[in-house]
Amino acid sequence: MIDRWLRRKSVATIIASWLEIRLAKRHTGRVQSDLQNAAKVLCVSTPLRPRLGIVLGSAFGQVTDEVADATEVGFADLPGCAVPGVDGHAGQFVIGRLGGADVLLQAGRLHYYEGHSMDQVTFPVRVMAAFGVEQVLLTNAAGGIAPDLAVGDFMRITDHINLMGVNPLRSQAAAGFVDMSATYSKSLGQALGQAAADCGIALKSGVFAAVSGPSYETPAEIRAFAKLGADAVAMSTMPEAIVARQCGMEVGGLSCITNAAAGLGKSEISHEEVLDQSRQSGKLAARLLTRFCELA
Ligand code: HPA
Repeated sequence: MIDRWLRRKSVATIIASWLEIRLAKRHTGRVQSDLQNAAKVLCVSTPLRPRLGIVLGSAFGQVTDEVADATEVGFADLPGCAVPGVDGHAGQFVIGRLGGADVLLQAGRLHYYEGHSMDQVTFPVRVMAAFGVEQVLLTNAAGGIAPDLAVGDFMRITDHINLMGVNPLRSQAAAGFVDMSATYSKSLGQALGQAAADCGIALKSGVFAAVSGPSYETPAEIRAFAKLGADAVAMSTMPEAIVARQCGMEVGGLSCITNAAAGLGKSEISHEEVLDQSRQSGKLAARLLTRFCELA
């Protein structure tokens, strides 16, 4: 009797995993066709075919005001693309000219902490790749951990530590295991360094830890992250970096330090404080990105 029950249970398990694989395959097929259709929407919206893309984190959104001949395409008009639901994140692509270069800006990010799946969070980066973008600069607002980082500083990202507990390529291992030993491009890093020097900015550099949020960290976590080698902490960027590398894109990273990480500042951390500092740093961030586009 128990034997028969066990046998029946294992048949049910086999059927369940077969179904799971079929559904995953169907999902992958749908994502592929959504991607192609989303890229087509961009192609018919503008004659420009930028090689450079920039994902704008909270502190960097003001740069869209500097774009010439801008075409805006809302995420809602892209098949398969989710729409952000957080203050300070618009949810559109802006394609135009910045610093003399053709560029595609992603204004508004999809965050894992909003409940979006990793596929949804990284969909816009895949659309960029399908549209022909080859270099992508990922920007974010981050909490400063390293003692040399002050609020308002800009930090070139040299590497990351994934503490989100998930990987955006899960279920895609069949497509190959992606090497992450040189994720953040040296040449884009040099362009950032030159752009910062030209803007009179003392650019810092460091490693950021990616956390899932949406709660901020505890002081004990920040002490642990510091011991692990993290200089800053943010709730984004790592998923896009991994997917961009899978797509063969060259990746650069830039943080704006909007607050001292938990336990290191005088006050509690709030989203309002992060947005407030983002606004204060916005003009300088826009100048830095414009100069970067001239050099990249
Ligand atoms: N922690 C996590 N993410 C953040 C922070 C922080 O302190 N500041 C801005 N994004």
